[in-house]
Amino acid sequence: MKDVVLNNGVSIPCIGFGTYKATTEDGYSIILNAINAGYRHLDTAALYENEEEVGRAVRESGIPREQFFITSKLNRNFLGYDNTKREFEKSIKKLGTDYLDLYLIHWPRPDYGTDGFDDWKELDRESWRAMEELMKAGRIRALGVSNFLPHHLDNLLQSAEIVPAVNQLELHPGYLQKETVDYCREKNIAIEAWSPMGRARVLKDTLLSQIAEKYGVSTANLCLSFGLQSGFIILPKSTHIDRMKENLNAEDTVISKEDMDRICSMPETGWSGEHPDRETVKP
Ligand code: A2P
Repeated sequence: MKDVVLNNGVSIPCIGFGTYKATTEDGYSIILNAINAGYRHLDTAALYENEEEVGRAVRESGIPREQFFITSKLNRNFLGYDNTKREFEKSIKKLGTDYLDLYLIHWPRPDYGTDGFDDWKELDRESWRAMEELMKAGRIRALGVSNFLPHHLDNLLQSAEIVPAVNQLELHPGYLQKETVDYCREKNIAIEAWSPMGRARVLKDTLLSQIAEKYGVSTANLCLSFGLQSGFIILPKSTHIDRMKENLNAEDTVISKEDMDRICSMPETGWSGEHPDRETVKP
């Protein structure tokens, strides 16, 4: 599998396993299956409540820790300098590791409607300062953000010493966040795609099915290949080992420029309804 080299020289596998909703005992087996299927890049978060399961699966796989690329994320409701230091230690302890490959601010603002919602600017900058210290102390190999739009990044960059290496966004055919992606490219911030198949909502789309048929691949494979060919690091999720394996083959499909353009110009579809500055709208 190809690696992407981040803006600080750290390499990250271009396909990672998304662990959202892989929780409790089931979560452990799902994550161990993903490792057995070949995933070495695992994407978790404090919010997912499965850092212990990820850590246990990594240890019990018998594969050395250094062969994994592990990402975790700071919960949006614990932004701020002290909170960030404390939350990082909690994540590390649950994962049973002494360093993270990548640590992200999960969302730029606390939950919509909570007390901290309006104080995000200062909270984000203070979290970032704590993360920079952790990185300088060798506890984290790369820092990033998730679900940050240009105005959130502008705020962070006003005081940041380290430019984020990654912005992880919801990205899939029918939801391409072009303005944010272009902004990140200009700043040399790598793009990660969460829900690269739109939580399976876009897999029944007629245009995507027609294009997939033309290449003799599944619509899921087409969505993932599209993500890779767009230059995104993709984080597909699955609970089935056959699909986990299938999803690792996304690099094999080469989509023509014409079909890439057709996918890029699809109308908006399959959006989760989650927006960092607004109340979640269920589509
Ligand atoms: P399942 O867990 O039953 O495999 P996303 O990563 O975009 O959020 O999408 C996750 C959803 O896509 C899950 O519902 C998952 O279902 C489904 N999925 C994952 N891989 C495939 C695949 N190769 N073919 C069809 N559906 C898939």
